[in-house]
Amino acid sequence: MGLDRVGIFGHSWGAFALRGKRTAPGSFEAGGAGALTPMSYLLVLVLHSYLRWGVVVLGVLSLGTSLLAWARGRAWLPRDRTLQRLFVAALDAQVLLGVVLYVALSPLTPRSLADLRAAMSSSLLRFFSVEHVTAMLAALMLAHVGAVKSRSAPPTAARHRRWALWLLFALLLVVVGIPWPFLPYGRPLLRLP
Ligand code: HEM
Repeated sequence: MGLDRVGIFGHSWGAFALRGKRTAPGSFEAGGAGALTPMSYLLVLVLHSYLRWGVVVLGVLSLGTSLLAWARGRAWLPRDRTLQRLFVAALDAQVLLGVVLYVALSPLTPRSLADLRAAMSSSLLRFFSVEHVTAMLAALMLAHVGAVKSRSAPPTAARHRRWALWLLFALLLVVVGIPWPFLPYGRPLLRLP
């Protein structure tokens, strides 16, 4: 340890360490570089990972309930509307988190934009920059249109039938669009912060 010299460790990929060494070379002799994964990125990614279960569970519950009610000829009750609302709200929130990741936080977007042609030949970059987003936006559209269309059917088994059909396709897209761990670009089922 030299008491007349100072070592400097900088984040921002070492920019401050380099600047210290260049502006005061006699004082700063050693430099270290590092970069932190921003907390906001990790936080949104973890929320996005967990909320996926909220979307899937609420979707399956709503679909199962409406299919059963349709088969039994049961009327549409306020609790069916509540379940429908909860599913659509969870999907909305999940899409919002996804868009925040996509446009502001994920390092995958700049990597894809840097070389679009190369990104399309990487299954990971193609999935997150095109396939995942397209499937989820289509699911969002089907869920919203289905919710609106179901309200124009009489509150009988007919409404269950209409909702169940729209929801079935929306849910299929959600399930196909999730990066399940067994896929080449898979992500954990439960991401630990
Ligand atoms: C337009 C809507 C969406 C966009 C733009 C979007 C965007 C993204 C992005 C950019 C990532 C990768 C983040 C990274 O690793 O840097 C991601 C991961 C993921 N997305 Fe989405 N997403 C959307 C909707 C959804 C929906 C609706 C679901 C499921 C219901 C979902 C489930 C997941 C999961 C499970 C991951 C992996 C999370 C992890 O790594 O733990 N996404 N999404």
